Amino acid sequence: MKVYIETYGCQMNVGDSEVVLAILRQVGYSRCEEISRADLILVNTCSIRENAEQRVFGRLDVFRQEKLRRKGVIVGVLGCMAERLKEKLLENKAVDLVAGPDSYRQLPKLIAAVRLEGKQIDTLLSHEETYADISPVRMDAEGVTAFISIMRGCNNVCSYCIVPYVRGAERSRDPQSILREARELIAAGYREITLLGQNVDSYCWKGTDGTQAPLSFAALLEQVALLDTSVRIRFATSHPKDMKDDVLYTMARHANICKHIHLPVQSGSDAQLLLMNRKYTRETYLERIAKIREILPGCAITTDIIVGFCEESEEDYEKTLSLVEEVGFDGAFMFQYSERPGTKASRTMPDNIAPEVKTARLNRLIELQNHNALQSNQACVGQTFEVLIEGTSKRSEAQLFGRTGTNKTCVFPAEGHHPGETVTVRVLSCTSATLISEIVK
Ligand code: SAH
Ligand code: SF4
Ligand code: F3S
Repeated sequence: MKVYIETYGCQMNVGDSEVVLAILRQVGYSRCEEISRADLILVNTCSIRENAEQRVFGRLDVFRQEKLRRKGVIVGVLGCMAERLKEKLLENKAVDLVAGPDSYRQLPKLIAAVRLEGKQIDTLLSHEETYADISPVRMDAEGVTAFISIMRGCNNVCSYCIVPYVRGAERSRDPQSILREARELIAAGYREITLLGQNVDSYCWKGTDGTQAPLSFAALLEQVALLDTSVRIRFATSHPKDMKDDVLYTMARHANICKHIHLPVQSGSDAQLLLMNRKYTRETYLERIAKIREILPGCAITTDIIVGFCEESEEDYEKTLSLVEEVGFDGAFMFQYSERPGTKASRTMPDNIAPEVKTARLNRLIELQNHNALQSNQACVGQTFEVLIEGTSKRSEAQLFGRTGTNKTCVFPAEGHHPGETVTVRVLSCTSATLISEIVK
């Protein structure tokens, strides 16, 4: 039996798809990359913004065509949209199966039931599920980089955000199972491991019987880094209200922990941060940035920003621009606010910024950030970097690509090298997204 899986949304969803493939492998499914060969078509979905959901509905139309062509094909919707829309998704003609993020162990049973009785759904959220005992089936074609989920869910209530509703309460995963998974990856030749959570700084393992001292994120990070000092370690996402200095000192002590922190700011205006319920101010955010630069000189800092959130005035928006200018982020994901049903903002605040104003604000922000990213990349020209080769460039077979520890993408002529090797490159020129480089002999 063949399963085809398409994944939308964040890295945690990629990790979840790998868990799903492992669960299905136990009952005889192997992965295929063509819809036309699949007995089971799965789409692992994201609800973070409306357009993320629209894209999935477009895909469901395509899967429906495939079902009309070939009898017996089963289509399942997994992930955050499954959790948010529940039975409503079953009304879609393409959909046979709906399973939320904590229901993946039920998939074999649900699939069998679809064959016997038709449409099935399970969207029960759990306080315990971490899939700790499951060894994910990795999707990185080159076998170089991998994700490990160290926790699930989120206990913050950022007023705009759907994640706590679709992912449930925060729970940390048993560190022994995390270390076991990391050892397996290292033994299989993986060269980079990214530890994942919506808010890794609140990772806390208290043991099962209450006798152990709690294990913090910094302590876990150190244990993973020590497994093999030639393997790179990354992590995401850090929350400005929770990121403590102990994580920074741990990063400073271990050369193999990549010097890159993704620290979403969302807005540069205190009034907006308060409405967003982010629990930090512009000042305390900038204080965190200063601390990173003090303890980890040269560390890359990236961020997420929302424009056009409820009540955002021109003045609020200007404060975001000035913060972006002041920090000089190495990279940023920038979004227009998209109201999500059920969130605090959707219930209590007006979505009162006109769409054309949102778009104009986003475009101006992107322009500023691209300019900053270009400057940050230009400063790299002439310098040398250690790069882990991740694959062949999309544009040319003769070119490889990889990333610096600071998460900048480099492209360079292969010259007989292969994915998985670490090479030193010199940067020759750049765009705002890529460092054009050559391998230094
Ligand atoms: N856990 C991470 C990121 C979660 S989602 C954090 O705490 O920052 C990734 C990003 O999507 C967020 O950082 C935010 O910038 C954006 N986002 C979340 N909800 C959104 C919404 N309703 N509209 C637009 N962007 C949103
Ligand atoms: Fe959403 Fe906030 Fe949790 Fe991030 S920390 S997932 S933005 S609620
Ligand atoms: Fe999207 Fe769910 Fe991740 S809403 S961003 S896939 S946790």
